[in-house]
Amino acid sequence: MTSNDPLLQPYQLRHLTLKNRIMSTSHEPAYSEDGMPKERYRLYHAEKARGGMALTMTAGSAIVSRDSPAAFGNLHAYDDAIVPWMAELADACHEHDCKVMIQLTHLGRRTAWNKADWLPVLSASPVREAAHRTFPKTAEDWDLDRIVGDYASAAQRMQAAGLDGIEFEAYGHLLDGFWSPATNHRDDVYGGSLDNRLRFTWRVIDAVRAAVGPDFLVGIRMVADEDFDKGLSRQEGVEIARRLASSGKFDFLNIIRGHIDTDAALTGVIPIHGMPSSPHLDFAGDIRAATKFPVFHAARIADVATARHAIASGKLDMVGMTRAHIADPHITAKVMAGEEHRIRPCVGATYCLDRIYEGGGALCIHNAATGREATIPHVIARTDGPLRRTVVVGAGAAGLEAARVLAERGHKVTVLEAASQAGGQIRLAAQNPRRRELIGIVDWRLAELERLGVEIRYDIWAGLDDVLALDPDAVVIATGGLPQNPPLDGGDELVTSSWDIIAGSVKPAENVLLYDDNGGHQGMTAAELIGKAGSRLELLTPERFFAPEIGGMNHVPYMEAFHRHGVKITINTRLKQVRRDGNQLVATLVSDFAKGWSEERRVDQVVVEHGTLPLDELYLELKPLSKNSGAIDYTSLIHGGDIFPDNNPDGRFLLLRIGDAVQARNIHAAIYDGIRFGLRI
Ligand SMILES: Cc1cc2nc3c(=O)[nH]c(=O)nc-3n(C[C@H](O)[C@H](O)[C@H](O)COP(=O)(O)O)c2cc1C
Ligand code: SF4
Repeated sequence: MTSNDPLLQPYQLRHLTLKNRIMSTSHEPAYSEDGMPKERYRLYHAEKARGGMALTMTAGSAIVSRDSPAAFGNLHAYDDAIVPWMAELADACHEHDCKVMIQLTHLGRRTAWNKADWLPVLSASPVREAAHRTFPKTAEDWDLDRIVGDYASAAQRMQAAGLDGIEFEAYGHLLDGFWSPATNHRDDVYGGSLDNRLRFTWRVIDAVRAAVGPDFLVGIRMVADEDFDKGLSRQEGVEIARRLASSGKFDFLNIIRGHIDTDAALTGVIPIHGMPSSPHLDFAGDIRAATKFPVFHAARIADVATARHAIASGKLDMVGMTRAHIADPHITAKVMAGEEHRIRPCVGATYCLDRIYEGGGALCIHNAATGREATIPHVIARTDGPLRRTVVVGAGAAGLEAARVLAERGHKVTVLEAASQAGGQIRLAAQNPRRRELIGIVDWRLAELERLGVEIRYDIWAGLDDVLALDPDAVVIATGGLPQNPPLDGGDELVTSSWDIIAGSVKPAENVLLYDDNGGHQGMTAAELIGKAGSRLELLTPERFFAPEIGGMNHVPYMEAFHRHGVKITINTRLKQVRRDGNQLVATLVSDFAKGWSEERRVDQVVVEHGTLPLDELYLELKPLSKNSGAIDYTSLIHGGDIFPDNNPDGRFLLLRIGDAVQARNIHAAIYDGIRFGLRI
């Protein structure tokens, strides 16, 4: 049956038929190995292809030159060795009629000199890029000649690999570094007038066209308004778009608004949760109207309804749902099957992106299969082993995920939850209005569990008898943890937990000291809520910088709140003890660095954040009754085989402990535990 869903209509991009309007824009998941897109990279894209999208723009900024060293795992487009790897990737996607392109770039100043070959990093002018801490050198004539050639040969490699096209990256990198008055201070033929500032771009596209011919698809992901006083104006940006579109040298524009040289600016281009949805869609639509040219765009178009609107209203030709596909690579297939409601929502946590800037691979906060396609399936198959009666104790992130996976595998699952609602620490985190989308992690699982017929019993503080009464074959302990105090010399009874502040069970006092030596969202969220409540707050940490467990993009809204609410931040300082003095508290602060140094703070409330201690009582009671005595064979877990050692012949059930019931970690770790252990029962 032919659908009339605007999202599912084919799109003709010159000779290329894209089967629908859904794409993933270029993003570097940092899965490359030696700069090559090997198995992990390929499986990641192939999964999206299987999930029905029409176009995957691979790589994030594959680098065309050696003096553009990989900043976050970027592919080495300058190396001939990439051709067979890209060919294999393209074949794997083409099998599902998903077209494949790649983004090529010279990163310019958006990388660091102390990587790879330690070559000098360059830009149009020597203007520092704050995010990568680089003071670039001014690109010389011989640099530009060489880089023009590098673009051309990189494009040829991609053509040789059988890709359907390429796009240049032109926001925050070298090409647009020439466009922007903020980064181009040159007085030669590459500086000054717009004609001059576009000169390098024309040289690049002309060389690429000469190399790949007129029929290979070439687009450009370009900033058309840097949206800051010193940057490229909307007027000039739109003019650039017009000139590129009418040149006959490009095939599509992929529109960006904003600049990316600081973490704060980056969240304007790629907003995280709590920030506006699709903030630049109208702007992209304006460019389409002004140029009458194929326009692609992505920026927090996270749900199908917004994506559909983007196409139906004629603002875009292809809609990018990039993080949405990191959360659920099968969006299109679900739309086609009438199962839109089953799409795992992207909750905007941006754990994915924050990780790559800290040297990790992109991982989704609540889809542990993404980037692990070789070992963790996105679609859970029914087991062909014995079907088991399983009991999951705890309906937080780990417990819900384990229950979902076990039920998908055909096991009978009963969940016992102490609270009257599911969600555990996620429900707590979602108390921050700015982060309330996190509850989608819980709600999606609850809906799946309902579909799968899983029973959840609430308000049961499960003890040994409750579990044994269900006569289980397997028990999963996902009881989470409870907050603990940091080690103090005194005053344990005087401090308030960050959880109490977040939950609202303790109101912030007038004058508050918050001590956070955990460094995650908990302390920051408590600080944000205290600041917003109008209290005077000092945020204290013994670390060299605060909240080291939170990435740069998640840092932005916290810092915004701290500045707006006058929160004072003190680093490198440890809380030693707290004592009462009248109706106030006196906190003693010490230094790890200067022995004997000490200061006091007189406040109304001391709030502490020091992670959680596992709630493991039930697990410890069940251990001697279990077949495996609670033990897990880690070698089998990683390499395959039975993960439950048979070390108690009298044991009655298999016993697993997952998530924060084992140790204080994060949401992703809990979800990963839930699925990887759930798959092994
Ligand atoms: C892990 C990750 C890496 C990214 N790397 C790049 C990149 O190298 N080049 C680029 O143009 N955009 C990059 N992006 C931005 C995405 O292409 C997209 O513009 C952004 O995620 C906003 O779209 P979304 O809200 O649909 O995710 C990256 C995004 C993510 C999540
Ligand atoms: S980590 Fe968050 S933003 Fe990234 S894909 Fe997953 S849900 Fe979306």
